[in-house]
This record gives sequence, C-alpha cells and structure tokens, in this order.
Amino acid sequence: MEEKLYVAWKPVYEIGVPIIDEQHKKWVMLLNEFHNTVRNGSAQIFVEETLNALFDYTEYHFSEEENIFRENEFPGTDAHLAEHQEFIKTLKLLKNDFKKNNLLLSLKTMDALKDWLINHILGTDKEFGNFLLNKKP
Ligand SMILES: [Fe+2]
Ligand SMILES: [Fe+2]
Repeated sequence: MEEKLYVAWKPVYEIGVPIIDEQHKKWVMLLNEFHNTVRNGSAQIFVEETLNALFDYTEYHFSEEENIFRENEFPGTDAHLAEHQEFIKTLKLLKNDFKKNNLLLSLKTMDALKDWLINHILGTDKEFGNFLLNKKP
C-alpha cells in the first residue's frame, strides 16, 4: 500500500526557478521524513537525526537563495532574509529542546512547521521567483 505523505508536492509550489524548485522538493521530502519518525514513535535518536537533517538543509537552502538575491540585486532581500532568520530561530529552539530531552514534539508543532514552509514557498519565494522570471530577457 502506498504510504500517505505528510506533504505531497504539488506543481503549484513551483516558483519557476529550477534550482530552487529542486531544493524545495528535497526540503519537503526531509520534512516528510521528520514527520514519519515522529508519527511512528521512532526512537529519540532517529527523530533527532531527521530534525538535524531538516535543519542543516534549511540553512543550506536559505544561503543558496540569499546568494541568488545578491547576484540579482533583488529589492525584497531584507524582508526575505528576516523571514528566513525567524524560521531558523524557531528550528534552533526545537533542536535545543530536543537535546534537553524535554520536548514532547506534538503533531501540532509539526503542522506549524509545515504551514510556515508552504506559506513561505507560495508567498515570499514566489515573489522572488517572479522577480527573476521577469528580469530575464
Ligand atoms: Fe525557499
Ligand atoms: Fe525563502
């Protein structure tokens, strides 16, 4: 039987910049893996591992986007960076709570992560995708 994905990728999530779309797909996949370990009640170490993978990839992806902003003198850079930093802060708190072993990571927290990620792609990332697409000759 096919496993039901927590977040299934949809074409509407594409922002039209292939390198970023590929990274977003991978990002969604890592969130699905993290969700699986939590939902399946995996051992703490596995949950922490998938959370770390999600965190590391988020940092990598944000820095890749930020390089593209600089290269293209994207006017919305500051506001976009602020959103990234806010999310990194949230993920750091989650990670620290995990290390202290005092976090009961609820599916509600997970839903908040999911909503943030999808809203960021559909809103803020699409904005800069449109900027890049319109900029191209
Ligand atoms: Fe992004
Ligand atoms: Fe972004």
